[in-house]
Amino acid sequence: MSLIEVRHLCKEFKIAKRQEGLTGALRSLFHRQYTTKIAVNDISFSIGTGEMVGYIGPNGAGKSTTIKMLTGILVPSSGEIRVNGLIPYKERRRNARQIGVVFGQRTQLWWDLPTIESFELLKQIFQIPPDRYRQNMALFNEILDLDEFLQTPVRQLSLGQRMRADIAAALLHDPKILFLDEPTIGLDVVAKERMRSFIREINKNRGVTVILTTHDMSDIEKLCQRMILIDKGQVMYDGELTKIKETFGKTRILIVDFEENIDDFSLDGVEVIKQEGNRRWLKFNREVHTASQLISQISEKYEIKDISIQDPEIEVLIRNIYEHNYTLDQVFTDKTRI
Ligand SMILES: Nc1ncnc2c1ncn2[C@@H]1O[C@H](COP(=O)(O)OP(=O)(O)OP(=O)(O)O)[C@@H](O)[C@H]1O
Ligand SMILES: [Mg+2]
Repeated sequence: MSLIEVRHLCKEFKIAKRQEGLTGALRSLFHRQYTTKIAVNDISFSIGTGEMVGYIGPNGAGKSTTIKMLTGILVPSSGEIRVNGLIPYKERRRNARQIGVVFGQRTQLWWDLPTIESFELLKQIFQIPPDRYRQNMALFNEILDLDEFLQTPVRQLSLGQRMRADIAAALLHDPKILFLDEPTIGLDVVAKERMRSFIREINKNRGVTVILTTHDMSDIEKLCQRMILIDKGQVMYDGELTKIKETFGKTRILIVDFEENIDDFSLDGVEVIKQEGNRRWLKFNREVHTASQLISQISEKYEIKDISIQDPEIEVLIRNIYEHNYTLDQVFTDKTRI
């Protein structure tokens, strides 16, 4: 069995309907009406030891709900979860010992205490041997520079500091598995890079299995080989990142700097998608045309100063999937729509 097994997982939320006005409010005190929101709708996947998997999808797709079920915070409506053999919501404490969790949106630390005291408390809670605690603190401090704010109360930390403290806290008890729900949200470029290299380090050198949700595609590109893309509570794609690029990356963009301004540029099979001064961005289908063929056709008609080729970014590919509402099957069979 894999380290993490999820089978036909579902989660529904019952939401009380609000009724308008005072009488409505009174009435709903006695006769509550509910609507059901299906947040996770029959999701299955398995994740092996040492993997680093990106769990992505648009707002409201069901990512955090899945993470909360994996960590035992939420009870599934149906389906099965095994995390290293444990059923998270049934064995929440034992599960807590083998996992680390970071919710980028909300700290797990004690808000009013100096940061170091959160670490000390976790040491007690997880009964971390003193030597191990010291070693881990030393390593995390080296990479994350914790020293500069250990005496500061958590509520006074900057976002970047708080995130560093949170991830260190999540790893203090040497968990096998790390769940990161938006660990780089709101961080500046430098802080993001630092967080990424730390995540990479603990995955590589400590063999910690990582499941990561994010809206930042460069997190995925830089960290994960595999990504699971979900939308409306369902898996739309599960596989290698490079494969999704192959599947969707049919378009290429030629960026041409002409010697002079050209008003009437046109060429069969090429679409001008942007222009700035003498520069044009030309989109073409790589399965129909080659770049060199187009370049020679263009240079026969016009004076070219410079030329370069851009492959579509992963963001664009993903957006295409969202917008076209692809199902997993369509991703592989109906490639013509993009
Ligand atoms: N406690 C709750 N009660 C009712 N509905 C909920 C609850 N938690 C989540 N939902 C709903 O379930 C759906 C999935 O939410 P979830 O937080 O899992 O999305 P997400 O993929 O993490 O989105 P985001 O990228 O915005 O964080 C949403 O429609 C949300 O409104
Ligand atoms: Mg979320």
